Amino acid sequence: MSAAPLPTAELHLHLEGTLEPSTILEFAERNQVRLPYRDVDELAARYEFADLSSFLDLYYANMATLRTAQDFADMTDAYLTRAAAGGVVHAEVFVDPQAHTARGIALEEVLAGVGSALAAAPSVHGISTGLIPCVLRDHSASDAMAMLEGVLRSDVQVLGIGLDSAEVGHPPSKFTEVFDRAGAEGLHRVAHAGEEGPPSYVWEALDLLGAERIDHGVRSLEDDELVARLVRQRTPLTVCPLSNVRLRVIDDLARHPLPEMMRRGLVVTVNSDDPAYFGGYLDDNMTALHAACGIDDSGAEQLARNSIEASFLDDARKRVLLARIDAAVTS
Ligand code: ADE
Ligand code: ZN
Repeated sequence: MSAAPLPTAELHLHLEGTLEPSTILEFAERNQVRLPYRDVDELAARYEFADLSSFLDLYYANMATLRTAQDFADMTDAYLTRAAAGGVVHAEVFVDPQAHTARGIALEEVLAGVGSALAAAPSVHGISTGLIPCVLRDHSASDAMAMLEGVLRSDVQVLGIGLDSAEVGHPPSKFTEVFDRAGAEGLHRVAHAGEEGPPSYVWEALDLLGAERIDHGVRSLEDDELVARLVRQRTPLTVCPLSNVRLRVIDDLARHPLPEMMRRGLVVTVNSDDPAYFGGYLDDNMTALHAACGIDDSGAEQLARNSIEASFLDDARKRVLLARIDAAVTS
C-alpha cells in the first residue's frame, strides 16, 4: 500500500477516547485528581477489555481528569494534531456531555473548550470539523433531552446528535422524542447500532431516530433485508476495525467483515472510535486492514472516497476533498 495516507474524513471518533495514558496522568496532576494508578505502565496494563462495558468503565473513570475548558481544548487539539499527520482532512467528532455534567462539570465548560479547538482547526491543522454531542443510551430519556436543550441554548455550533454508550438493553426506541426534537432543530442524526446490539437496533435507528449514518453497524450483516435497505439508501456505516477486535465484537482482524461489507455494496468508512484505547488512529486502522485483510490501494481509495461522501459537508467542499484524493492517487 502507498506510504502516505489518503485525504480522509474521520466520522466516528470519541474525543474522550483520544486521551492517551500520559495525558491522563498529566491532567490528573494539573487538576489534583487522585487516580488508582501510579504511572503510565500501571494504567496501560488495564487496557485489556472483555467487551464494550468493561472498556466503558475505564473510559468514564479516566474522564475524572478533565476539569476545565482548557483541558477539553487541549485534548481536542492533541487529537487534531495526530489526525492531521494521519491524513485526516475533515473530522466530525463525538463528545459525551452527560458524562461530564453528571460529575459536576458545566456543559458550557465542555462545549467552550472543545468548540474553541475545533474552530481553530482549519487554520491550525488544515482540518474542517463538526461536533456531534452524543446521548448516553444507558441514562434516561429525560437526561438526554436536558442535554439536548442545553446544547441548543449554547453559543457553540453543533453539527448533529449521536447515540452511544452501553448498547444492549438500551434500544434506540428509548430516544425517539429526543431525536425528533434534534431533527426539528435541523441537527443531523447518527446512532451507534449493531456493534454489540442486534440488527433490530439498526432498523430502529433508521426508522425511529431518523439516523443518517449508523456507527459500527457490523451486525447488520446478520440480516439480508437490512443490508439491502442500507445499500439501497446508501446509508453509511462508520466501521472501526481495531475497536471491534479490542472489544471482542470480532475475534480476529483477519476475519473482520469489512471486505465483505464493501463487496456487498455497503457505504463503509474506516474510523478509529477511541484510538488511545484500541491501538491506533485512522491511519493505523488502514495499515492494520492492509496487513490483515489485504485491503489494497484501490480498496483504500474507495474507503477514502466513501468517507468524504458520507460526511455532512456541503457538495462544494466534498468536491474539493475528492479532488485531493484524485491528486493523491495519480501522483
Ligand atoms: N463510547 C465510546 N466508545 C464507544 C463505543 N465503541 N461504543 C459505544 N459507546 C462508546
Ligand atoms: Zn463509537
